[in-house]
Amino acid sequence: MPKEYLPQIRRIAINTGGGDAPGLNAVIRAATLAALDNGWEVLGIRRGYMGLLNDEVDGEPGLVNLADRVRGITHLGGTILGTTARGNLFGLEPRQPDGTWGPEDPSDEIIQRFAELGIDALIAIGGDGSLKIAHRLFLKGLRVVGVPKTIDTDLGATDMTFGFQTAVDVATEAIGRLHSTAEAHQRVMVVQVMGRHTGWIALESGLAGGADVILVPEISYSVDRIAAKIAEREANRRRFSIIVVAEGARAAGGSPSYVEGTGRYGGIADRLAAEIEAATGKETRTLTLGHIQRGGSPVPYDRNLALRFGAAAVHAVERGNYGCMVALQGKSVRSVPLGEAVTDIKRVDPLGEVVRTARRLGVSFGD
Ligand code: F6P
Repeated sequence: MPKEYLPQIRRIAINTGGGDAPGLNAVIRAATLAALDNGWEVLGIRRGYMGLLNDEVDGEPGLVNLADRVRGITHLGGTILGTTARGNLFGLEPRQPDGTWGPEDPSDEIIQRFAELGIDALIAIGGDGSLKIAHRLFLKGLRVVGVPKTIDTDLGATDMTFGFQTAVDVATEAIGRLHSTAEAHQRVMVVQVMGRHTGWIALESGLAGGADVILVPEISYSVDRIAAKIAEREANRRRFSIIVVAEGARAAGGSPSYVEGTGRYGGIADRLAAEIEAATGKETRTLTLGHIQRGGSPVPYDRNLALRFGAAAVHAVERGNYGCMVALQGKSVRSVPLGEAVTDIKRVDPLGEVVRTARRLGVSFGD
């Protein structure tokens, strides 16, 4: 489109919220370079919306001019803008159960700050929580374009999110490495991977890494079935077993495992290992991969998807297509309405082709 037909945009802002995912910096770079190419100014907001509501964040200016900050960052993990704890993008008290911020709701102040600063549009990069906030701000009049981010790749509106392939890569490497040591000691190894509500990382890394048992939140397990799989392997003189478990997996009729005193998932591997050891008599050890799945450099797939999302977000601003989220659909990056995009979680289909393939290869899902 010739530049003179672009809507009257002079200055945009970008922020990142919620847990980090490898590829965030690639989105920031692509969006910034595409915006600069349009002659726009690009401000980065530090740590969610904190840099908008505070002149300084962590001793640095709350807003950064991104023009000269995006060189050589495509391969870097984390986010040069920093982020905030999940669900607390404002650095304020957590949300009320109904999704509002009660007396502390800063959304009007945020909108006013955008107007004061002459920021014409916001590119908000975040997971479901951050995108819900972005949608609320859009409904209150802010020009917003969302970019989906989660290593769990569980947003219904997009076929893939950046960071997922990197997480699968890290987990697959770890599972692969465990085989030789598990076999040497004839042990059972339980590997806990991320995935609060969905088992995509467990499924794909478990399949690629040659796990014997894969446990996902979508298929509840029984320890007896897992023990039966281990016994079957023993009978075939396979005296070790590798079990991959998503952190949100649960036993049939049971509840997920939480870190005591927090709302965070955690501890499923240790709980399961004790139960398996009791049921099989085999020494069972655990490995919790944790944040290593999110850290470090994104794999090329994630870099490219993130770059495409960043450029597409600017394209949406160019067209005045606000209140949308960029998404991968098939081979193309498109835009979908934000309101719809954040409601639908994409779960592993227990009857789907990937699960069926794994079962045919002898993988147990503990059911
Ligand atoms: O949402 C992505 C995710 O990786 C989850 O799978 C995991 O439970 C969560 O983030 C952990 O994030 P943090 O510990 O940083 O809050």
